[in-house]
Parts: sequence; structure tokens; C-alpha cells
Amino acid sequence: MITHRSYAVDPWSVRETELSLDVLAQSESVFALSNGHVGWRGNLDEGEPHGLPGSYLNGVYELHPLPYAEAGYGYPESGQTVINVTNGKVLRLLVDDEPFDLRYGRLLSHERVLDLRRGVLERTCEWCSPAGTRVKVRSTRMISLTQRSIGAVAYEVEPVGCHVRIVVQSELVANEQLPESGGDPRAALALQSPLEPEENFASGHRLRLVHRTRRSGLRVAVAADHVVTGPQHITTASESHPDLARLTVASVLRSGQVLRVEKLVAHGWSGTRSLPAMSDQVDAALAAAALDGWEGLAQEQRACLDDFWARADVEVDGDEEIQQAVRFGLFHVLQAGARAEERAIPAKGLTGSGYDGHAFWDTEMFVLPVLTYTAPEAVAEALRWRQNTLPAARERAAQLGLRGAAFPWRTIDGREGSAYWPAGTAAFHVDADIAHALVRYVAATGDEEFARDTGLEVLVETARLWRSLGHHDHRGTFHIDGVTGPDEYSAIADDNVYTNLMARGNLLAAAEAVERYPEEAKRFGADDEESASWRDAAEAMNIPYNPELKVHEQSEGFTRYQRWDFARTRADQYPLLLHFPYFDLYRKQVVKQADLVLALYTCGHEFDEEQIARNFAYYEALTVRDSSLSACIQAVIAAQTGHLRLAYDYTAEAALMDLEDLEHNTRDGLHIASLAGTWLALVAGFGGARRSGTVLEFSPRLPERFSRLAFRLLFRGRRLAVEITQEQASYTLLSGAPMTVRHHGEEAELKPGAPVSRPVPSQPHLPPLEQPLHRRPQAGRDRKR
Ligand code: BGC
Repeated sequence: MITHRSYAVDPWSVRETELSLDVLAQSESVFALSNGHVGWRGNLDEGEPHGLPGSYLNGVYELHPLPYAEAGYGYPESGQTVINVTNGKVLRLLVDDEPFDLRYGRLLSHERVLDLRRGVLERTCEWCSPAGTRVKVRSTRMISLTQRSIGAVAYEVEPVGCHVRIVVQSELVANEQLPESGGDPRAALALQSPLEPEENFASGHRLRLVHRTRRSGLRVAVAADHVVTGPQHITTASESHPDLARLTVASVLRSGQVLRVEKLVAHGWSGTRSLPAMSDQVDAALAAAALDGWEGLAQEQRACLDDFWARADVEVDGDEEIQQAVRFGLFHVLQAGARAEERAIPAKGLTGSGYDGHAFWDTEMFVLPVLTYTAPEAVAEALRWRQNTLPAARERAAQLGLRGAAFPWRTIDGREGSAYWPAGTAAFHVDADIAHALVRYVAATGDEEFARDTGLEVLVETARLWRSLGHHDHRGTFHIDGVTGPDEYSAIADDNVYTNLMARGNLLAAAEAVERYPEEAKRFGADDEESASWRDAAEAMNIPYNPELKVHEQSEGFTRYQRWDFARTRADQYPLLLHFPYFDLYRKQVVKQADLVLALYTCGHEFDEEQIARNFAYYEALTVRDSSLSACIQAVIAAQTGHLRLAYDYTAEAALMDLEDLEHNTRDGLHIASLAGTWLALVAGFGGARRSGTVLEFSPRLPERFSRLAFRLLFRGRRLAVEITQEQASYTLLSGAPMTVRHHGEEAELKPGAPVSRPVPSQPHLPPLEQPLHRRPQAGRDRKR
């Protein structure tokens, strides 16, 4: 994309300077707007041509039967799929008697800009119809970060050098026809016309459609209101049908005259509220938005983003592409989580239908770390969603014969949606990932109320899961057998180190929470005796280690397996899962994505520096990065172990995952975890940021390419700025009470207005590490510089 001739590098925007239909679907993902509740893909205003039309409401899905050739006990019976809801962003245009369709006539110019400070997508183009009529079209689109249900479009048409008869049709469209997906036909069926009409309304400039999903029974209401300005003679008419509501605006414009249509769109959905209640809800949201009008919304959006960047911006000097990419990533991470409010943050956010719109552990381990230090209120909301889904997780645990709660591997509504149990049901680490995120959030914010009201219950139920899933052997050692860790090229393994260390953290955090809130814990039937059993399990946890190789085993016996034959694996055979049977991947040493290496980061205190370096080198030679969740973590540990050039290359890969479409699937939606991972690579990698209890530690070191890296963080009511050059790091407390940070192990006291600087120790040159053949970092390999 960015390497595509039509993309320009700019620090505060993503600019497409000409329309390239060959990357249309990718650009729709890159230009998607969302606030975590409503998401609009960057489809062209007129609806066509499109790659994949997409308007999403977080939590709205349809059910479909899950296919099994050989069914088994406990297999989920139905799957959930995000659906394309009523599209409120369509504005069709007729120029004299020809439809404005960029596949016809001549496109004289076309530019789209995603403005990361204003939070809008702007489009300007000039088109000459097949009959020779010229018009300029400008549109600005936003999904409000301040008014949760609102999307808005300001659309302008201006003839060039002639009189033109113009008709603008502003529409709400339900059950849009979607391109063939090529995926599971049963899921595809659920996606064709998923909405049953319930109400349609049009009067004056107002439109409304209410529908209901057929199987999941969710009611979706979308309404629009308009302000039309232009030359004196304008006619308007509105009409509605079951799947279409339309305002038609017609006028004759002279050259230079402008017809402007401002469209406000309100969205709502519910599984319980009645039809009249939903109609009222979206009408009320429109009335609230109309108070401010388009300009007011635009100002609020800017103010909201100014505030975000003031606490979250990352500056990279010396690398324009990474600078652009990290802001692009932060913007999309904010969009994914800002207003999700007790709903999941899906792997693709609300930018596409990839992964059926499901949320995974990506949220807790990749997205929430970023939001914890930049927009913590969104983290509390995301974790409250997990708490709200505890009933389903308890039911699932009981079904599996376990205690506590088994959170789903992939889901929209909290119920397990994975039809492949070796990498679904068995991936129990998701429980510990959620617990980890809770602990991180509470430590970074000091939010005691949350710790008591949400944290405690989730920690207790996840600790119970571990205690019942694992067992003490005859020597008393605690094992968790038959689970799948993050590396999906190993499954049903015993004592996966990542899982065991994360479970240990989970058990200890739960024990502490019960001891801290004994009264509240009683409500969940937890007491000192139970918490003592969690501590025993945590302390006796088996952490497999190979003393001959002096490395940890990803899971028991892993280093004994045959190594994958990388020399005979061709470059075009990656990702391996599409070219080799799982049975063979599972019994060989080959790693899909950071697993033990992720433990080196998330449970770093469990390893000494030498172990970290040896483990990293060992697993580096086996890791093929067939998941976009890997590069950023490899960047973090490469930086920690002094492999700064390698860390840089992995950072670039994580950062450019979508802007360069490195995995060739950006069309289905953005890789939100990888975008978040760019921040992790920079802040935890080159900044060396770690949290030890309630103290922040930094061990900064920059790669050669960067002359400066600066970032901001929120921590326990303070705003902190860190600025790193090749020679020194300085720490400034921008607001809040004095605090202590550590710089390369040494304490530094920070007081407001008194920056503290410390030298950055130099990094001795290390011999390069080996990667599997053909699997060197992509961006590093491909980039020309
Ligand atoms: C990865 C998982 C991840 C999922 C969604 C898979 O390819 O292996 O770890 O959760 O994608 O991003």
C-alpha cells in the first residue's frame, strides 16, 4: 500500500493521492473509521465500486451452524459472525443524467486523507462524465469519538465550467449485496440478507430503518437527518421501503456553485429493547447530535484527539515511515477501544469482517497494554465485558468438567465460537491473559474500586480453572497438561512454559485479591483455605528446562522433537498451516509465533538476563512468524538482548503490517494487535519499559536509524514524558505527584517541572541471530533503504 505509488508518507495522516482499484479493499480497511461501537469501512461515498461494503455495530452478529465432519462432546454448536448492518454512509450522485461512478468517464484527480489529528476521512476528486460534464466532489466523514452512536458525512458537489443538473441521494441501505466470500458456505448464508425489516420511516429530511437479525434476535436501528444548503432552487423528497430509506436532493448548479449535504447518522442495537424504544433511541441520538451540528461534532472530535495525543503521542526521529505507522496504529487502537463500553474489542476492530468479527486474547495481551498507559478508561470497559460474560465462561468450564470459568478462545457474545478444539478449547491461556490484563490495569491506575468489583471475581474464577485443570504429582510438583500455548504449531502439550508462568501469576494475584478483600470474596465462596491451595499450586508449578542446552522448553519435551526441515521448505510454503498437515507441525520443533519468547516479556522477572538471551536465540531459529502477533514481541526481546538492528526490522514489520499489506489480508480488516504491537516494540522494546509492581522501569537503547524516540504515558494519575536519544534519556513528569522511575536499574526521582537525564549505556556489537530460511523480518528484507 504505502509502497504503492499512490500512498504518501506523512507524520499525521495517511494520504492516497490517486484511486487504485487494485488496492480498493485494503484501502477500505486502512481508511475505516470507528469508535469501538460503530465502524464504517472506508467505502466510497457512492457505495460502488467497492471491495467489501462494511458498516458494523460492536456486538451485532448472526448465528450459523458449525460444521463438523466428526462431532464430539462439548463442541460448540453454533458460530457467531459479525454482520454488515444498515449502511448509513451512502450518498449517490447523478450528474446530469449519468451516475457518478468512477469506473466510467475520466477521473481527473482523486485524493483521500485519513487525518489522525482531526479524526476524519477527507476525499476530494474531480471527475468528467462520459458526456464531458465536469464536477468536483468533496466529502468529509467521521465516526464521533464523543457521541457514541453518531457517524456523519459532509458532502459537496461543484460543477466546473458548466451548468449541471445534480441529484444527490442520501440513503440508509440494509441487506446490501456482498461479494462472494469463498469461506464456509453456512456462514456465507447467514450473511446474505441477515436483517429482517421491522420498520421504515421517511419524513422531511429524516430517515429511519429498524431491522432484526433472524437467528440471534438482535434489533438494529439506524436513523439519519440532513442539513442541505446550496443555490436557491433545491427540491427534496424522502421515501422509505423495508430495506431502503432515501432523501433525494435535486438542483441545477452553475459552475462554482456548491450543493452541500450534511448527514448525521445515529445507530443503536439491542437484544432486549422494543421496536418503539429503539426508534426513539436513534431519534434522540440524532437530536443530541443536531444540537452541535456538523461543525460542533468536528470540533469535539478534534478536541478529543488533541487530548489523546497529548497523553499518548510517540515521536520517532530518523524514520518517517515508522513515525507515520505508529500514529496510524495508535489511532486505530484508540478507534477500536474508545467507546466499546462493555463489549469486546475484536481482532480486526470494526474495520472488516475478518475472523468473523471475533475477539481473541489479542485484546488482553496486545491491545490493552497500549490502552492501559494511554486511555485506561477503555481498559476498564473491555475487562468489564469479560466480567459480564462470566456466566457463559462458568457454563463452559462446567461442560468441560472444570471449576471456575473457561473464557472462550474466540467469541462475540462471550460463548465459545471455536470449532477447532486443539487451538480453541485447549488454549486455556486466555484465562491467564485476562487476569494479567486486570493486574496490569489495577497496578497502572490504582483503581481500587475496579479491583474489588471486577478484578476479584474474575481472578477467583480463573484461579479455580487453573487449580482444577492442573494437578500435583507424587512429588508435589504442579503440572498443567494437555494445553495449547500461543504457538499454534504445537498443541495439547504438557506444561507449556508461557501458560504455566501466566497461570502462576493468575493464581498468586487471585490469592492476594482474596486476602485483600475477604468479605467480598466470601460472596464467591472463596476463603483463605482455597487461596492457600492456589499459592501451593503456583509455587509448585513445573517450568520445564533443558540443562544441557541451557534453554527453557516451550513445553515438556519440546527440545527433544525433530527440528522442522527449514532448508527444504520453500518461501511460497508459508504460512505453513496452509501447506502442511497439523499432525506434522505438532510433532516438530517449529514455532508459529512468539510463545516462550512472549513469556520472556510478560513474565520477565522469572528469568535472568542470560536465560533471556539464550532462550531468545534458540527460539528465534525456530519461529516462522505465521501470525502477525509475533514480530512485535520478537522486537521487544531483540531490543532487550541488544540485537537492535533485528529489533528495528521486527518493529518495521509490525508497524507496516497493514500499510504495506504484508500478510496480503488487510482487505479483511486491520491487524489491530500488530498495530498495537508497534507501540509495544517502541516503548517496551527500545524504551525498555517494564512495570515492576507499581514502579516503572526503563532500559532505553535506540537502533542506529533513530536519532530520537519520545513517548508519553499515563501512570497512577501522572503524565510522564520520556525522551531518548543515542546518548541519553530524559524523564519529565508533566503532571501529578512526584514518582520514582528506574533507568537501567538505577532509581531516579521525578518532580513536576524538573526533567531528569541519564546517559544511555552503549551496546556492544553482537553476532547476528539465525532465523529460519526465508523468514527474516519482512520489512527489513524488502525495504529498499
Ligand atoms: C493467531 C492467534 C490470534 C489469532 C487472531 C491467529 O493466527 O495464531 O494467536 O489470536 O490469529 O489474531
